[in-house]
Amino acid sequence: MEISEVIKGRRSVRKYAAQPLEDGVVEELLDAARWAPSWANLQCTRFIVVRDKSTKERLVEAMSPRNPARNAVAGAPVVVVFVGKIDASGHKDGRPVDDKAWYMFDVGLAMQNFCLAGHAKGLGTVIVGSFDYGKAGEIVNVPEGYQVVAFTPLGYPEGESKAPPRKEMSELVFHEKM
Ligand SMILES: Cc1cc2nc3c(=O)[nH]c(=O)nc-3n(C[C@H](O)[C@H](O)[C@H](O)COP(=O)(O)O)c2cc1C
Repeated sequence: MEISEVIKGRRSVRKYAAQPLEDGVVEELLDAARWAPSWANLQCTRFIVVRDKSTKERLVEAMSPRNPARNAVAGAPVVVVFVGKIDASGHKDGRPVDDKAWYMFDVGLAMQNFCLAGHAKGLGTVIVGSFDYGKAGEIVNVPEGYQVVAFTPLGYPEGESKAPPRKEMSELVFHEKM
């Protein structure tokens, strides 16, 4: 697949087939994720692979009641939780260099690599960001100094997901000044 095909063809998938994943595929996607760029190459992202049904169900409970990805998280063969180390990215000599939460940026880049690599292999994902972070952290045993940023189900999509439209380039792109 051409890179533009991978980028534009990836969709948020909220319905998964029962088909299990082949051995080694999750590791292959996590390898793509760990090759994402990161602040000073500190690699602050951690990945928790969840296969246990009851853990998935507990993660669903941590999600907002109207989150449209609830069934996807409950039903996909695997859920991967993306965790950020809070005090590494964007820090120098133990202090934040500015008031931006750079670990969020690093985790986002890793997650996009994961989702795109998954799509290139015919697998679906949906980034889930709307949930109780504290609760999710307890469920997957995230220690102090780390924060669950987002998670995604992973599996073979059932049916097609329609692409939500994008804004026109003319609304988004500026030249020289905004
Ligand atoms: C940071 C972030 C958080 C998101 N959180 C959720 C979520 O909690 N539930 C959900 O169903 N989709 C969630 N999404 C998916 C977006 O709704 C989706 O990416 C957007 O509608 C564009 O659709 P597409 O991914 O198919 O291109 C999230 C996406 C991002 C980037």
